[in-house]
Amino acid sequence: MIVFNFKEIISKTIEDLKTQNKRVGFVPTMGALHSGHLALVSKSLKENDIVVVSVFVNPTQFDKNEDLKKYPRTLNRDIKLLKTLSKSNIVVYAPSVKDIYGENIEAINFDFDGLENGMEGKFRKGHFDGVGTVVKRLLEIVQPHNAYFGEKDFQQLQIIKKLVEKYKLPLNVIGCEIYREESGLALSSRNERLSLEQKKAAPAIYKTLKKAKEKFANQSVNKVTKWVVAAFANQKLLQLEYFIIADVKTLKEINRKSSKKAYRAFIAVYAGEIRLIDNIALN
Ligand code: PAJ
Repeated sequence: MIVFNFKEIISKTIEDLKTQNKRVGFVPTMGALHSGHLALVSKSLKENDIVVVSVFVNPTQFDKNEDLKKYPRTLNRDIKLLKTLSKSNIVVYAPSVKDIYGENIEAINFDFDGLENGMEGKFRKGHFDGVGTVVKRLLEIVQPHNAYFGEKDFQQLQIIKKLVEKYKLPLNVIGCEIYREESGLALSSRNERLSLEQKKAAPAIYKTLKKAKEKFANQSVNKVTKWVVAAFANQKLLQLEYFIIADVKTLKEINRKSSKKAYRAFIAVYAGEIRLIDNIALN
């Protein structure tokens, strides 16, 4: 498996592959890979000849410096995991901060038509400017036919689709469903940091989302929301940051539902210092 560290070299290699009519898939990650990431890579392997996986902890998308410092960096382990999927059809791009940003580690200020304002954008200031900056840069370097993003970060996925549309980047953005543990807990690099007790409590997040979905079929938005808030009030180890029902297209929070629109529920919960997010389609 080839591991590239420099943008010029990977760009040239991919350009050559494309002239040989190879379809190129791309899975951007921040490393510390788990089965959720691997599910994206497997899908991309099925749909492309070559899959580029980037491993880059992007400094501009962290609102807290402490989180950036603590983010796990496990490149050798990541490479081993990727080798279990394919030895010859995956290439890794693991650049330095300098390779991506040069001397100027700053985010672009984006307008994603309001998709960035709620939920993660509201509670993590500047987060989506950082994500947009690095993904735009990575897409320009890799120039894939298809790029894969998880619905685990549903708001991020919608924002990337908007980025690609606004900058007329020539690729397909493909959303992949949320990969869960048997307990229902959505896989995340942060799950590793949960204590045994927190790990036992955390599946309540998805269980609550599923119940909320059931209730949404015949109860008002307000009633469902109140029920979720009350459910978390009883959880000693989990603190609810937000529960929001939003229109899938605009990602704007709704107070009343219409039968013609599609909705999704979004949740962020703290287990101690560890922040977990999840979401579910409601109709
Ligand atoms: P990271 O958190 O490493 O996630 C990389 C990709 O894996 C994202 O598209 C994310 O949605 C997806 N993913 C993570 N857990 C998943 C799960 N349980 N099921 C399905 N997909 C899952 O998201 C980022 O990195 C960064 O913001 C990035 C896009 C790489 C830009 O820096």
